[in-house]
Amino acid sequence: MLQPYWPEPLMPNYRSGRVGFWSCQPTPALTNVPGYFIPVRQQSPGWMFKKGRTVWMSLTRMEVESQMMHIAAAHGHTVIGGMGMGFALFNMAMKPEVTKVTLLEIDPQVIELVYKVADLTQWPGYEKIEIVVGDAAEFKPHDPVDFLYMDTWSGLGSSKALPATQQVQKNVQAASVGYWGQEFDLVAYCQDHGTPATKIGRAAYRRFAEAAELPLIEQDSLAYPRLATLAVVLQTAAQTKDLPTRTMLQKAAFVMFNEQTEIDAAISRFSR
Ligand SMILES: C[S@@+](CC[C@H](N)C(=O)[O-])C[C@H]1O[C@@H](n2cnc3c(N)ncnc32)[C@H](O)[C@@H]1O
Repeated sequence: MLQPYWPEPLMPNYRSGRVGFWSCQPTPALTNVPGYFIPVRQQSPGWMFKKGRTVWMSLTRMEVESQMMHIAAAHGHTVIGGMGMGFALFNMAMKPEVTKVTLLEIDPQVIELVYKVADLTQWPGYEKIEIVVGDAAEFKPHDPVDFLYMDTWSGLGSSKALPATQQVQKNVQAASVGYWGQEFDLVAYCQDHGTPATKIGRAAYRRFAEAAELPLIEQDSLAYPRLATLAVVLQTAAQTKDLPTRTMLQKAAFVMFNEQTEIDAAISRFSR
């Protein structure tokens, strides 16, 4: 279903390794995991970054799908806030539409780990990458920035996401901006301003972008606001411990997913 919207990203090759307290370790295959937009997915064996015993990052289906639209939006001079496992960097740097990538990362050990376990120097587009070590909030670019992607917090839907993005955008002044989990802020904004989740469309998304003072991606898309709402329902279900509430939210996500699939099928028949 997502293919007509955004291409499936690719995965860097990782291997086990360690830098300081950080390590890269394998994760097993899993069945029946929720994606970000797609209610049920199979999870291939993958990799995670741990700090001590705590898992800080892993490339689950949720993590992959939730970055698809940002990867699709990257172009020109792209600034990325947060290296993590380098997944967004890997996919953005290889795009021919991306002419330069400035990667902002506060923790030098994370950068060293990506070099060590994922052969960063061998990535397609490596010659376009400049890495700046430090707090993204303090970065001031020398060249105009076409696209800013921010992901420097842990936890989907974090209240830190919007202010952190706005802070970096103040200095960067990118022509377009995306940030991880922005769908949660869109839905919360709409609910606070009298638009129920089922009615969130393009106009509501544009109002949110204007209120956030960010030139957010996908503002011309009819499908994105529906997918954003679906993602929030699905992820809220995944995080809900109360079983009846979780089941109710999962059913709602399936209904929205099936509706969107039918709309896609109708549109593709009509446009043939
Ligand atoms: C969730 S990870 C990013 C995952 C990444 N999008 C990927 O595709 O693998 C967040 C990263 O942001 C970094 N970070 C946290 N605060 C930061 C800040 N103020 N400035 C720059 N980087 C920061 C963390 O060290 C971590 O590497």
